[in-house]
Amino acid sequence: MFNLVLADSELETIPKEIWSHPSISRYCSRRRKKPRETILDSSYHYKALRHLEDGYRRGRPDIVHFSLLYALGTPLCKKRMLNIFVHTRRNLVIEVDPETRLPKHYNRFIGLMEQLFREKRVPPTGKPLLLLRRASLSDILKEKGDLTILIREGGKKLNPSKLISLAENGEKVNLVVGGFPHGDFISKFDFEMEFSVYEDPLEAWVVIGKVIHSIEEEMGIG
Ligand SMILES: C[S@@+](CC[C@H](N)C(=O)[O-])C[C@H]1O[C@@H](n2cnc3c(N)ncnc32)[C@H](O)[C@@H]1O
Repeated sequence: MFNLVLADSELETIPKEIWSHPSISRYCSRRRKKPRETILDSSYHYKALRHLEDGYRRGRPDIVHFSLLYALGTPLCKKRMLNIFVHTRRNLVIEVDPETRLPKHYNRFIGLMEQLFREKRVPPTGKPLLLLRRASLSDILKEKGDLTILIREGGKKLNPSKLISLAENGEKVNLVVGGFPHGDFISKFDFEMEFSVYEDPLEAWVVIGKVIHSIEEEMGIG
């Protein structure tokens, strides 16, 4: 069993420091939303982001959207051999049910994330497909997996047969990929091995695609 953990993802509601910034007020009144219930998005809020710590990398829900759409659609996930967790900047973690069918349309995805951050679960009643709870990256890795593999540029070339032999021994293997556009992980966490998929940095969803695809190839799935 594999756990894909998108870590330090830049998905959050608009932080208090910029609630009164003119570009935020305009955006929120147009959408008839309170800033505290609105997802931060660098495409719309770049002027306000300049006033935030790490503003150059924050407000990237699109990375989570693309990554989830890809991972949820893979044969590995459909065969229930992949669980997915999204750890976000303020230590809120989304547990994603493998049966979740996410909106393909970006604006509808943002609406869903706003509902999730407000209600802490989606749908609000019945079996939750998305659950939001407080946990650090380190806590979620320890709770969900037996060992952790960091996927990042600069490591040894990915060895899918190694990953599979670990998972075949009944271990739950955490695969950690950064859900941010620039820079390095902010959270501190322990890992047993690290692998790279290419010599230069790639977008998170491309990396996820390459890792899952090589596991599927090795396992003869898909
Ligand atoms: C867009 S990258 C993060 C930013 C990147 N460190 C940079 O400064 O350009 C998102 C994540 O994808 C993974 N990643 C990117 N390139 C990779 C590579 N060549 N091999 C393995 N993982 C990679 C890492 O987990 C990384 O945190």
